[in-house]
Amino acid sequence: MVTGRVSTGIKGLDALTGGGYPEDSVVVISGTPGTGKTIMGMQFLYEGARKGEMGIYVSFEQEKKDILRQAGQFGWDFADLEKKNLIRVFSMWPTSFDEVIAKIFKCLYYKPKRLVVDSITSITYTMRDNREAFHKMAEKLKDTNLTAILISEMLSGKEGFTRDGISEFVADGLILLRSVEAAGEQKNLLRIEKLRSAKINKDSHAYQVTGNGIEFTSPPPVR
Ligand SMILES: Nc1ncnc2c1ncn2[C@@H]1O[C@H](COP(=O)(O)OP(=O)(O)O)[C@@H](O)[C@H]1O
Ligand SMILES: [Mg+2]
Repeated sequence: MVTGRVSTGIKGLDALTGGGYPEDSVVVISGTPGTGKTIMGMQFLYEGARKGEMGIYVSFEQEKKDILRQAGQFGWDFADLEKKNLIRVFSMWPTSFDEVIAKIFKCLYYKPKRLVVDSITSITYTMRDNREAFHKMAEKLKDTNLTAILISEMLSGKEGFTRDGISEFVADGLILLRSVEAAGEQKNLLRIEKLRSAKINKDSHAYQVTGNGIEFTSPPPVR
């Protein structure tokens, strides 16, 4: 069976993933602070909005006005897209896990095709039984008719792909963003660690945050 693809908004990444994220999947994007996770999430929703696909951004980290302002820096007019019902931005304070989940699922009333949760690290702090609760949430999301990106904070220099240590096992896909120093310069590297129904290699690809969002420094070969 050929799985449908949902374009990522990043040209090179579409090429690397066989056309985008698998439709209706849950993908974790994990990276150290400042690697562009939030921008990558916004870019994913903006790409959807361009195609008429409704997207929801749930943030536990930033106030709504800051999210709109940050998107605006890339020419992505989220306020206008909200008026057109193509994007909705929600900012929440992480309380109890049950409450957070209830709130996220309440947002699905808008019937989005794309969802970004920024970040799951903030909400996993509130989980008592992390593994089971997270599993439940991911399974529930997989049952919905949308593609979800869960952003996860990674601690630099620490073991493990995600700080919560769970999402990497539960998700259909895992993308890692790192910042490394090479020849006295910082550079960002993206690696696809796993992705359901896609043939991937685990090469690292250099990328930059530019005025257009995330862009690969040299486009990966199309396979
Ligand atoms: N308008 C911009 N042009 C170029 N780079 C930017 C711009 N805005 C932010 N950045 C870069 O993007 C990074 C922040 O991205 P963000 O998605 O907020 O990171 P994260 O969510 O991973 O902490 C910063 O390190 C900054 O250098
Ligand atoms: Mg962020």
